[in-house]
Amino acid sequence: MNHAIIEKNIPLLAILTTIVISIGAIVEIFPLFWIEKTVEKVEGIRPYTPLELRGRDIYIREGCYNCHSQMIRPFRDEVERYGHYSLAAESQYDHPFQWGSKRTGPDLARVGGKYSNKWHREHMRNPQKVVPESVMPQYPWLESTPLAYGNIKKRLEVMKIVGVPYTKEMIDNAKTDLMAQANPDADADGLQARYSEQFKSPEIRQEDFAGDGAGSITELDALVAYLQMLGTLVDFSKVEGFDAETGVAKIEQY
Ligand code: HEC
Repeated sequence: MNHAIIEKNIPLLAILTTIVISIGAIVEIFPLFWIEKTVEKVEGIRPYTPLELRGRDIYIREGCYNCHSQMIRPFRDEVERYGHYSLAAESQYDHPFQWGSKRTGPDLARVGGKYSNKWHREHMRNPQKVVPESVMPQYPWLESTPLAYGNIKKRLEVMKIVGVPYTKEMIDNAKTDLMAQANPDADADGLQARYSEQFKSPEIRQEDFAGDGAGSITELDALVAYLQMLGTLVDFSKVEGFDAETGVAKIEQY
């Protein structure tokens, strides 16, 4: 009966509707004010190097996330299979994040360092050659397509706008850093100082990428650089609750 009064009185309905919506908005919006505190700072987490960032673009372009997640959940079966469960900070600089929602293939959050570059190259060219029962598609064009990185500076600038702490120095040196990571003979002091030393992160691996034969860096080079760093930034032996014997984090409740 009271409801009929509200429904027939438009100003009253409007006021009450506003109050109800405001409560919903407060519950949704207020936690965002403390987001900085919600994501714990973790030593070793750094922004992607320019080469990894381009590799990540290719990962997104090719739709790898349709079959691969990048988030290890804190469950025993996951932790035993993939390693320490994912920390929020590990996808802090991912825009957009690549958690995914489907696993036709395995989780890739800690695939970095699991295989050699050679294995990855072979696997991307023809997954069935290294894993005969694989249903993963072949991506042969990646190794013959030169990587476009003319606008790499701009890409870093855009990431900075959405909150990635790229410094002016990182942005100015984006192209040099990208090339240095793909060539072990290049001087990488700047790259190491900007990315690994500043964030107490593992040293950036300079790779002897095969290129496309014409000497240019390929899309596959960038993708492999990206895959090889996934999940390698945090030294979990320093994280509380880590069991050095099994290599996984102790989880209190299963
Ligand atoms: C149709 C689904 C599908 C798509 C799309 C796909 N994959 Fe896979 N991927 C798989 C399956 C299934 C496996 C497991 C068998 C194997 O190793 O090939 C796998 C395995 C892998 C592995 C090895 C993981 C491990 O721990 O052994 C890597 C790395 C990988 N994929 C990367 C990629 C990348 C990069 C892309 C995008 C360019 C991609 N995949 C696209 C299905 C897919």
